Amino acid sequence: MSYTISKLIPEDELREGIKKVAERINNDYGDKDVHLVCVLKGGVYFLTELSKYLKMNVSIDFMSVSSYGSSTVSSGVVKIIKDLDEPIKDKNVIVVEDIVDTGNTLSYLISMLKDREPASIKLCTMLDKPSRREKDIDADYTAFTIPDKFVLGFGLDFDQKYRNLPYIGVVEFDEQ
Ligand code: IMP
Ligand code: MG
Repeated sequence: MSYTISKLIPEDELREGIKKVAERINNDYGDKDVHLVCVLKGGVYFLTELSKYLKMNVSIDFMSVSSYGSSTVSSGVVKIIKDLDEPIKDKNVIVVEDIVDTGNTLSYLISMLKDREPASIKLCTMLDKPSRREKDIDADYTAFTIPDKFVLGFGLDFDQKYRNLPYIGVVEFDEQ
């Protein structure tokens, strides 16, 4: 399968979009402590960039779930690979995700985290692909809304590759 990668969101635009989300979070939370829950592995680059611009006390934790195999199509099956290290009870949790696509992963994750009684829980995503939504889920903070294209870079992978690209690229599959 041959494909080409083109730039969808260049580095500087990406940084500006993420800064704007951080400003919104700063305004909404003021000096309240915030607990960022990052969904591995795709959310890592967004978490580190976003958290640099947050002004309150921030703690971070990681969890890993899977809904995709090595394919580019959502299976709708969500499995916990790694749970959080710390309890989230009474914390102001913000779930930090790379992308909301079908919404299957996040709808499962958010309802599971709500059962642990955080003081509040919000969803912050770098990218939103609303055209493919299967679950009724909306992010509280979205840096960029994108069309229905398979994207990679800045944490997002294509077969575990390209996470380290400093921009968001889009994959165009060549006709066979
Ligand atoms: P969901 O379909 O909303 O459950 O998305 C689950 C996960 O699939 C996301 O958190 C990403 O890790 C991955 N994913 C969805 N769309 C893309 C894409 O365009 N490129 C790379 N990964 C994606
Ligand atoms: Mg993800």
